[in-house]
Amino acid sequence: MPAADSFARLPGFRDFAPGDLALRNHIVDAWRRVARGYGFQEYDGPPLEPLGLYVEKSGEEIVEQVYNFRDKGGREVALRPEMTPTLARMLAERSRGMPKPIRWFSMPQLFRYERSQRGRLREHFQLNVDIVGEAGVSADAEVLAVAIDAVRALGLGENDFVARVNDRRLVTAVLDATGVAPGRHAGCLAAIDRAGRAGPERTREDLAALGLSPRAAATLGELLADGSRDHLADRFGDSAQVREAMRRLDEHRSILEAMGLGAWVRFDFTVVRGLAYYTGIVFELFDRAAELRAICGGGRYDRLLELVGGEPLPAAGFGMGDVVLGELLRDRGLGPETDVSCDFFVVWVGPEQRNPGLELSRRLREAGHSVMYSLKSHGVGKQLKAASRAGAGRAVIIGPEEEAAASATVRDLETGRQETRSIASLLDGEGANP
Ligand code: HAM
Repeated sequence: MPAADSFARLPGFRDFAPGDLALRNHIVDAWRRVARGYGFQEYDGPPLEPLGLYVEKSGEEIVEQVYNFRDKGGREVALRPEMTPTLARMLAERSRGMPKPIRWFSMPQLFRYERSQRGRLREHFQLNVDIVGEAGVSADAEVLAVAIDAVRALGLGENDFVARVNDRRLVTAVLDATGVAPGRHAGCLAAIDRAGRAGPERTREDLAALGLSPRAAATLGELLADGSRDHLADRFGDSAQVREAMRRLDEHRSILEAMGLGAWVRFDFTVVRGLAYYTGIVFELFDRAAELRAICGGGRYDRLLELVGGEPLPAAGFGMGDVVLGELLRDRGLGPETDVSCDFFVVWVGPEQRNPGLELSRRLREAGHSVMYSLKSHGVGKQLKAASRAGAGRAVIIGPEEEAAASATVRDLETGRQETRSIASLLDGEGANP
């Protein structure tokens, strides 16, 4: 016999008992509502993809975390760790001839072999919202607006979370202006991305290991300590590239301000994102207290479609997970009501009324109501108790007299008020509340 613990849930995976699933559905419903409100269309792809789709395109960090294996046909396959490469592949196959920009969203379950910790598991659900075919900053602002609204729709406000925004072109311009060779840029971006988690000491070591000149390493260290817009303008105002990147960020901000979302937007030089494919404005949403991992991350990736064999199309989007968001909602008491409830509980007085009771139940369900009844033959008292336990709104009682008159006694289980109703009027929904 296998040991009982060999049946235990795998670390980093979740069971969704009804209360947990209610929270997940609450999140997913809000996501879908907001994405549709911005005119995005929903899509999905396969949960299993060729491993090659992620290698090189997503970057080392994600490839190390991929669940991969060889299938029975000898193919190297992977459970999807993110949605963007699937989206790029799907559009590479069909974007020609589609009106642009393309606005698509999806809510896949994703798998990453990460070290489980607060806010990070080995599976999660992720809202993906992407605009493909628009290079202008208005598309960057639009996707960030969707991200902010997707969190606001769950009841979290400006005191709860913030969007930290940067532009990889700004960082590249600063690296150029500091004399860092292009071949070292990717390493610097990775070190900046880790800086928040690694701390200043480790970051200095990371930068030194990249072989930066002491002057360049000192400048970057300084920017990581104070990466404010004013500081950057002071130090690098001479660089046309830096000025252009800042102008773009200012425009991005002003669009979000016009949408009434300025309070959530904060420039942050340390946000560069870990994934390899980003090319422009990038952003992450965090809880204001900065206690948790990112709620959401995204940005512009103008070369990915081409990389998977499609027409060259600019793109911007984000991914937002359900894990950190779920924790925030639980902390703030913003989860959904999870009381079990049904509209009607049908009670039969004697065994002769069981069949009419079952028939009435079917007809009530066909009329769109939720209906339960006792599965055992109990007396009326026990059936009414079961009705209360089930959280039913009303009991529908059928005895010999009601059966003969094609009627039922309808009792409101909250107020105790009751009245006799014809079956026809009950099915019509007239005077639905006695
Ligand atoms: P990402 O930053 O890897 O980006 O993930 C986006 C979000 O997914 C994170 O901010 C977090 O909320 C959630 N997430 C990621 N990993 C985990 C995990 N192990 N456990 C729980 N939640 C997690 C991407 O995946 C990009 N493909 C997003 C994107 C779409 N960029 C453009 N379009």
